[in-house]
Amino acid sequence: MNYSLIVAMGKHREIGKDNDLLWRLPRDMKFFKATTEGHTVVMGRKNWESIPEKFRPLPNRKNIVVSRNPDYEADGAIVISDLKEIPTHFNVESDKKCFFIGGAQIYKLALEQGLINEMYITQVHETFEADTYFPFVNWDGWDEEELFEFEKDDKNPHSFTVTKYTR
Ligand SMILES: NC(=O)c1ccc[n+]([C@@H]2O[C@H](COP(=O)([O-])OP(=O)(O)OC[C@H]3O[C@@H](n4cnc5c(N)ncnc54)[C@H](OP(=O)(O)O)[C@@H]3O)[C@@H](O)[C@H]2O)c1
Repeated sequence: MNYSLIVAMGKHREIGKDNDLLWRLPRDMKFFKATTEGHTVVMGRKNWESIPEKFRPLPNRKNIVVSRNPDYEADGAIVISDLKEIPTHFNVESDKKCFFIGGAQIYKLALEQGLINEMYITQVHETFEADTYFPFVNWDGWDEEELFEFEKDDKNPHSFTVTKYTR
């Protein structure tokens, strides 16, 4: 099975603080929505809890939450304790892609297991105070394609570049 990953990070790979995002970038949220809609999204329990209740499960996507607690309840989502369980909830024909959407622990788990063949990375052109960071990646064997660059505007306070990596 092929897995994808999508993340937005600052210049030092920072992705979160106090179980929240570091910025509000509606243009990047739009890209996230357009890229993941119609697919399956896999997230850590903390990431799930960071999404306001009224916005979860993420609509038009099969939501899978990873927790070591098999009794954890996430309304509208499937809870799993091991990434090996994903294929049992995934229909290759109807579910299309499976995206890891964070946070850091879940990105690390998927990368360490060598599951990821495609990454969409939003590189925000600034540094932020953070407590959660995207893991180091061994970039050997990855091809890079810049998808678009966005200049900050009145609604999006930071510029960023979106790049797709495949191997
Ligand atoms: N910038 C971005 O693109 C982006 C994207 C997503 C999230 N974020 C940010 O990232 C932060 C959250 O990330 P995080 O790293 O703290 O948490 P996380 O990865 O979202 O979730 C961690 C939880 O996943 C479960 N887990 C971890 N390893 C596991 C394993 N081996 N087996 C089973 N379950 C496992 C555990 O749940 P239990 O404790 O229930 O067992 C653990 O507490 C927030 O600040 C969020 O805003 C940023």
